[in-house]
Amino acid sequence: MKTLVFFGATGNLFTHKILPSLGHLLTQDGGDFSIVAIGRRSPNLASYQQFLLTLGHKDVSLSPEAFSQLFQRLTYIQSDIKNGDLFLKLAPHLEGKEVFFYLATLPSLYPEVLRQLKRWNQTHPLPKSIALEKPFGSDEESFLALERELRDLFPEERVFYVDHYLGKSTVLSLIILKAENLFIEKLLSRHYLKEVRIAVCEEEGVEERAQFYEETGALRDIFQNHLLQLLTLFAIDIPPLCEEDRRECQLFQEKVAQEKVRLLEKVRLPRKEEIILGQYQGYREAVGNPSSSTETLIHIPIYIENARWRGVPFRMFTGKKMAEKRSFIEVIFHSVTPWPNRLVIEIQPEERIDFYINVKTPSIELTSVPAKLNFSYFGTFGAKSPQAYQKIIHDFLHGERTLFPNSAFIRRAWQITDALKRTIERYKISPHFYPPHTLKGDEVWNRNTFSS
Ligand SMILES: NC(=O)c1ccc[n+]([C@@H]2O[C@H](COP(=O)([O-])OP(=O)(O)OC[C@H]3O[C@@H](n4cnc5c(N)ncnc54)[C@H](OP(=O)(O)O)[C@@H]3O)[C@@H](O)[C@H]2O)c1
Repeated sequence: MKTLVFFGATGNLFTHKILPSLGHLLTQDGGDFSIVAIGRRSPNLASYQQFLLTLGHKDVSLSPEAFSQLFQRLTYIQSDIKNGDLFLKLAPHLEGKEVFFYLATLPSLYPEVLRQLKRWNQTHPLPKSIALEKPFGSDEESFLALERELRDLFPEERVFYVDHYLGKSTVLSLIILKAENLFIEKLLSRHYLKEVRIAVCEEEGVEERAQFYEETGALRDIFQNHLLQLLTLFAIDIPPLCEEDRRECQLFQEKVAQEKVRLLEKVRLPRKEEIILGQYQGYREAVGNPSSSTETLIHIPIYIENARWRGVPFRMFTGKKMAEKRSFIEVIFHSVTPWPNRLVIEIQPEERIDFYINVKTPSIELTSVPAKLNFSYFGTFGAKSPQAYQKIIHDFLHGERTLFPNSAFIRRAWQITDALKRTIERYKISPHFYPPHTLKGDEVWNRNTFSS
């Protein structure tokens, strides 16, 4: 049987996102796996189960049936990873199993987990895979160091770098939208497009991640991974979709991965005048650094120097303390009217695709207004789409890699991010201040918004 081993099983990510997805995998998909949860704060299985049940009364929506199924497969281990005895406690639960390690703990602990695993592995080699939560290092160099540690223990095809954005249904819809709607695929090029906007708007501020965020900033936290992932998935040539045949599917996954890296190789960075940074008012107090220049907002155009995209700006935006939580890709077409045709792919909160066309008004004059053609996942299928982590964990257990960036992608993404960082530092580009909870996703594309 497959065994999932979660490091950080008492943390925010595990309890709020992974746990509900495990519940759904067990109740809806008949998942065939057992779970070993590792945490510090609960002393034993009974108190850990109680802790999870208490969460159920707050904002973790799991049915009693799902909890019951989870608890039947659950083992809990209390361990401080720094104590070095983790694998002594774990060992009895791993014997004879195919093990799937999942690092959902602090990234600063990753090297220690890998060190202990390496020691234990010398005497207990077993088939195993590993999934890791971001951040994967903080620049190209630290990523390469992490990659070396991992590759001492796992072949590349068994390392899964998680970007949960890619598990969202609308992101996956991008593949179908392009691969199976040829007219859309043909329109997506410099001949018809004026610009593409890719935005991740967050409502929350830094909250309890103050120290981490102060060292990281929006460029490393969101641009290096989510934004570049969305950019590449949108802009690559999608290879032919695979049928059920396993080899074909593997080829599809490899092709997608290659195309994404190839696209990143063609990225041209913006001129320094085009880089806009922001910091929400009150951020410096929140992180206790009165002179902090860490950006909580970025608005940066990226260009792709290939035949399909040359000259089309991909405007990348992310901001904290925005007026709304919203992620989307918006495609603006060339137009002969003041209202350009637009294709809007909403990723969250609602999974939706809107297409704006111009139609005649109901008057006797030949006048037009924009109107919306709309698809919403819920409206069409009457059900919520599977949670992102449901897809991520399912694919991890089945070795399906399409949604996981490979190391070449992450390395190139860091090279781009490091180069932007160097430009920002060299030209001392400092952030504009913006008031919290006032900017909406639609309003951020105008440079004047940030002119103060
Ligand atoms: N939260 C999210 O929505 C989110 C989204 C994407 C990625 N991530 C990534 O996911 C990872 C975890 O984030 P998080 O928000 O869940 O953090 P968190 O709430 O701070 O949880 C950290 C977890 O690590 C455990 N831990 C800390 N020190 C430990 C030690 N010395 N020994 C054993 N366990 C230890 C904690 O155990 P105790 O609490 O029991 O001490 C807890 O289970 C990070 O890499 C983060 O970047 C998080």
